[in-house]
Amino acid sequence: MKNNNVNFRVFPGGTLRGVARVPGDKSISHRSIMLGSIAEGVTHITGFLDAEDCLATMNAFRAMGVHILGPENGAVTVQGVGLHGLKGPQESLYLGNSGTSMRLLSGLLAGQSFDTVLTGDPSLSRRPMKRVTEPLRQMGAVIKTSPTGTAPIKIRGSGPLEAIHYDMPIASAQVKSCLLLAGLYADGETSVTEPAPTRDHTERMLEGFGYPVCRDGNCVAIRPGGRLVAMDIDVPSDISSAAFFMVGAAIAPDSDVTLKHVGVNPTRTGVIDILRLMGANIEIGNHRMVGGEPVADIRIRSSRLRGVQIPEKLVPLAIDEFPVIFIAAACAVGETRLSGAAELRVKESDRIQVMADGLQALGVHAIATPDGMVIQPRPIKGGKVDSHGDHRIAMAFSIAALRASGPIYIGDCANVNTSFPSFVKLSNALGLNVNVSED
Ligand code: S3P
Repeated sequence: MKNNNVNFRVFPGGTLRGVARVPGDKSISHRSIMLGSIAEGVTHITGFLDAEDCLATMNAFRAMGVHILGPENGAVTVQGVGLHGLKGPQESLYLGNSGTSMRLLSGLLAGQSFDTVLTGDPSLSRRPMKRVTEPLRQMGAVIKTSPTGTAPIKIRGSGPLEAIHYDMPIASAQVKSCLLLAGLYADGETSVTEPAPTRDHTERMLEGFGYPVCRDGNCVAIRPGGRLVAMDIDVPSDISSAAFFMVGAAIAPDSDVTLKHVGVNPTRTGVIDILRLMGANIEIGNHRMVGGEPVADIRIRSSRLRGVQIPEKLVPLAIDEFPVIFIAAACAVGETRLSGAAELRVKESDRIQVMADGLQALGVHAIATPDGMVIQPRPIKGGKVDSHGDHRIAMAFSIAALRASGPIYIGDCANVNTSFPSFVKLSNALGLNVNVSED
């Protein structure tokens, strides 16, 4: 079992300076294992995120008979078994804290001929799964969950699924990806429309593996009967991890940070748009394409931020970055308002309530609303906050210390290892002063 009593003590003040490469993109790393496993041939991955969430996906495929080597310095080799080569696992598949693993695997496994059970940690076991189980049932999948629609998810192996058209009620890349993966095993064209653009890594990677995907406006469609051909994947750095240092450099005086090789897929760059609206000094250069994904270097320097009304259309494009965007807002001049972001309440924690509570504990005027927050900046005091086991909350409050007048103590930080195990080391190298204690 993992030690849950990891706490951070972050000393106040400081400046962030330097050049860094943050670890690989979590969403792309998950998909590289999933698609590499069902491809024909050997897929070589570099820049893979060696963190608990992606290792949960990797272990699930190992348990289904896929031979996977690594990760070693980000290098992984996957010996694909083809679309119909997975084997029924001996035991249930434990997916830890990882919503992406559980939702995408539900789709991929619904069309297999063997049974599976997907389980997770207490946080994942509270998260809503009806958003995937309902459309999968419409496709004829035989799936059981708890009475409230949460994990464990029990999937009965059955014949081919029925193709459907699904009009997604929420903007969710996990739901869209789940249904596209199920569509590989359906009896005709499966299509999904999304109410707003969400990250499109699944579509891009399927195309990279040579599997045709039809994209038309807000609709994506897939047909069965194709094959995935193994390829090499170079995973870019995760913009969601880079975001902590982008905000840190913006709010701390005399800061100047360059983040190299960051994935800047336009379905992920809402954080850049929001910080620029707030007046942040961000330069993006060295644009290039790496394996079908746009990549760039991002330089960010101290800026005088102003409060803004965050445009709702940017919400799905920055969905994982709001904890640290709230910290930027707390350091700005003037009020920031966010609405249309109720999804934040069903992430690894209730990110609206947990962030509002933490900000208030540090003296910031933060008012939670059902679908967002109103933040009126005040000088940040030192104090104690609880991350509720949410990696991004722990990292966001670490960054807040750059502008605090006293130390910030953050409880329950072990899950930083789910997405960014080198966070403390890299933060300290750039100029933050984080101390870790375990009890
Ligand atoms: C992800 C999609 C997003 C995001 C999550 C990763 C993905 O979730 O919050 O961290 O890799 O598809 P939703 O689809 O629930 O918005």
